[in-house]
Amino acid sequence: MLRTRWTIGNWKQNLLRGAAEDLATAVVGDLPEPVAEGGKQVRVGIAPSYVALDAVRPWVRPQGPLFLFAQDVAAQDEGAFTGEVGPAMLSDVGAHGAIVGHSERRIHFGETDATVARKVHVALEAGLRVVLCVGEGLEIREAGQHESHVISQLSAALSQLPAELVSERLIVAYEPVWAIGTGKTATPRDAAAMHHRLRAWLEQHFGPAGADRSILYGGSVKPNNAAALMAAGDVDGFLVGGASLEAEAFLQIVRLVVSAA
Ligand code: 13P
Repeated sequence: MLRTRWTIGNWKQNLLRGAAEDLATAVVGDLPEPVAEGGKQVRVGIAPSYVALDAVRPWVRPQGPLFLFAQDVAAQDEGAFTGEVGPAMLSDVGAHGAIVGHSERRIHFGETDATVARKVHVALEAGLRVVLCVGEGLEIREAGQHESHVISQLSAALSQLPAELVSERLIVAYEPVWAIGTGKTATPRDAAAMHHRLRAWLEQHFGPAGADRSILYGGSVKPNNAAALMAAGDVDGFLVGGASLEAEAFLQIVRLVVSAA
């Protein structure tokens, strides 16, 4: 089966509602054909802040063409958890899914592997899509422990997950921390090698349903490096930070993903 290719813009803590609406309008107005037609093989998502999700709702339909993600989600369905936003609240505002376990959540907000695992489970069970992020810091890469580190993050997040929740709603993103916002990217070879390891783990644990998951790369993806990363093999698209804040740069990356063989 052909894996779905995704380009997802993570807008992080940027853009007030009006600017979010303008950017979404510019993106949706110029999506290349297979995406605009709602094809299943190539998809595009944006992840505004929680408070801007509602502002982009006019373009949100159950089947796209623009998929809407939150940047996080609570680890429980509902209750006395001040400040948290649960999966039903996200669905209610029109979101299709959530990014979970981004390194900025792990590093700045102390999110642990156990929390990430709960979030993945709760969100998938509630019917959301999940973009599960994994990735190693620079010291770990320099010590040559990147593969074991990333596999341990993946395993912590997914090994207790009921197999029936492993479907096209689960997307994995490999984002080496040292490549995020730094202008450094993994070489296409390094990215492909890690994606290959991640896919092997997924297949070993979940069989074909695991092997077929889309695995995205993230970390300083720009229009000038996206084609080479796609060509490396085993890269099913991108989670884009900085370049997703400019419609034209983001759309160029989308076009490269669409046209990749
Ligand atoms: P940059 O593309 O700005 O490096 O950010 C990547 C990222 O963290 C996406 O989630």
